[in-house]
Amino acid sequence: MRPDLREGKLPTELPSNFAIGPYTITAPVILAPMAGVTDRPFRRLCRELGAGLVVSEMVTSDTSLWNSRKSRMRLDHAGETGPISVQIAGGDPEMMAEAARANVERGAQIIDINMGCPAKKVCKKAAGSALLRDEKLVADILEAVVRSVPVPVTLKIRTGWCPDSRNGVTVAKMAEDLGISALAVHGRTRACGYHGQAEFDTIAEIASAVKIPVFANGDITGAEKARKVLDYTGATAVMIGRAAQGRPWIFREIAHYLATGEQLPEPSLEEVRDILSTHLSELHRFYGEVMGVRIARKHVGWYVKTLADSEDFRKTFNRLDSAEAQHASVREWFERRITRGAKAA
Ligand SMILES: Cc1cc2nc3c(=O)[nH]c(=O)nc-3n(C[C@H](O)[C@H](O)[C@H](O)COP(=O)(O)O)c2cc1C
Repeated sequence: MRPDLREGKLPTELPSNFAIGPYTITAPVILAPMAGVTDRPFRRLCRELGAGLVVSEMVTSDTSLWNSRKSRMRLDHAGETGPISVQIAGGDPEMMAEAARANVERGAQIIDINMGCPAKKVCKKAAGSALLRDEKLVADILEAVVRSVPVPVTLKIRTGWCPDSRNGVTVAKMAEDLGISALAVHGRTRACGYHGQAEFDTIAEIASAVKIPVFANGDITGAEKARKVLDYTGATAVMIGRAAQGRPWIFREIAHYLATGEQLPEPSLEEVRDILSTHLSELHRFYGEVMGVRIARKHVGWYVKTLADSEDFRKTFNRLDSAEAQHASVREWFERRITRGAKAA
């Protein structure tokens, strides 16, 4: 019998290393692909802070669009720690195969296929999670991509198209038969968007139906929940999306808890300041100052969201338009809080 998700459980033994093709993944906690979030600077940070694997933002399978600045940034993996996993999105088997090949030429070591994203732009072209409605097309895409590249191919799905049609188990078995090396499952159907709570029953069914590694995804916000979801579903690893925004240290917290049953303390304000400052520098360097400053605003907002009295800081920060001013503002804000904390102690 599966442990009750709500009751929790004492940590049990789990073999935490697992393989995706020739790659050994040493921590069972993975950064989910998030368009507009999991760019190279963020992926690097999450890797350094304990993620066993990170997945890039999706790139379109239409290689004729790869000349845009946005696509070029998404295709850039210079200096990343491997294995480099790149997600592709599209609905045409041959285009997907070509996109996979072209990404491998650019350094991808794992190709991830997006059948889990409900974004309208993607779905209008029958891509992402919209594909789950057409199992024959799913099979054609998987077959074409697996055949086209010498690297492992992974797949990200939702539990089905809509609550009445949860075909996640069928798709998972098909994926395994067609040579997919690992499967990430977001515990919602396409129709569910982000509403309600992610459900883990279908993920548990999928995990027991296939032998390839399964990553449980959806609403996992911390170490204890990660433990409970792994126990409940029998999945190999957890995949974390939104909970990593502004909290990249969540990966080491989860990895440590899964390995030892002990909670790590929250990072100190000094450490948060240092992580954020490094993140800022990387964003400015990667995107250039103008774009980097803009992109930094949302990340900084996420970092400080959970800290008291951050609203005024956020408003001021969002008006700054140079890299130097952003750095100074972060330094000063944290200094004030650190000094206040030291006085109160
Ligand atoms: C801003 C944002 C962008 C996303 N972009 C992608 C994407 O490019 N590809 C994909 O497969 N899923 C994408 N997702 C879905 C996430 O990978 C993940 O499945 C979902 O957020 C549920 O996990 P969470 O509850 O841990 O956030 C995105 C989610 C968010 C919030």
